[in-house]
Amino acid sequence: MGKLPNAADHRVADHAIEPIFVNRWSPRAMNGQPVRQEELNRLFEAARWAPSTYNEQEWRFLYAHRAGPHWPTFMSLLAEANQAWCRNAGVLIVVLSCKVFSRNGNPNPVHTFDAGLASMSLMLQGSHMGLVTHGMAGFDRDKARQALNVPDNYAVEAMIAIGRPGDPDLLPPGMREIEKPSGRKPIGEISREGAFAF
Ligand SMILES: Cc1cc2nc3c(=O)[nH]c(=O)nc-3n(C[C@H](O)[C@H](O)[C@H](O)COP(=O)(O)O)c2cc1C
Repeated sequence: MGKLPNAADHRVADHAIEPIFVNRWSPRAMNGQPVRQEELNRLFEAARWAPSTYNEQEWRFLYAHRAGPHWPTFMSLLAEANQAWCRNAGVLIVVLSCKVFSRNGNPNPVHTFDAGLASMSLMLQGSHMGLVTHGMAGFDRDKARQALNVPDNYAVEAMIAIGRPGDPDLLPPGMREIEKPSGRKPIGEISREGAFAF
C-alpha cells in the first residue's frame, strides 16, 4: 500500500517562511471517505476571514457531499481527467464570485482576486487539518451556471476537491507517477523592484 509523500520532504523554501505554505500541495489520491460537515465548516470559516475589496466578501461556495443528493451533478461538471480521481473525494466545491459591488452595482475589478484569496485560506486550513485540497479549472463553467442556477452577476471561478488522503498506487496510470509535491520558481523570477523587467 502506497502512502502520499510528505511535502516537506520534497520542498525546501529559499527564505524563512511558516511550514504551512510548503506543506500544502494538491494530491489526487483520496480514499473515498466522507468529509464531515463540521470539518467542511472549518474550511469555510477560514475562507470567511480572507481580505477583500471594501470587505465585500463576494466569494460564494456551493458544495456537494459524496453521499448527498448533489454529488452526481457536481461530478458531471468535471472534465473526464478530473472525474477519474475526484470520484474518491469527499466533497466537491464550486467557487463563485459576485462581479459587481453590493453598494452601487458597479463592476468590481478584483472579484476573482478576492475569491482566490478566500480559496487559498480554505485550502491552507484543509491542508493543516490533514485533508487533501485540490483546485480545478478543468470543468464546464456554462454547465455549472445552468445546473446550479448561478445568476449572471456571479462569475464561476473554479472547483475544489476535498478529501482524505488515499493510496497513490491506486491512481490511474499517468497520475500515479506525478503524485508528488512540485517545486517553484525562485523569487528572483517572480518579483522585481520597480518597473516590469521579466
Ligand atoms: C485554479 C486552479 C486550477 C487547477 N486546475 C486543475 C485541474 O483542473 N486538474 C488538476 O488535476 N489540477 C489542477 N490544479 C492543480 C495545479 O496543477 C497545482 O496547484 C499546481 O501544479 C501546483 O502544485 P501544488 O498545488 O501541489 O503545489 C489547479 C490549481 C488551481 C489553483
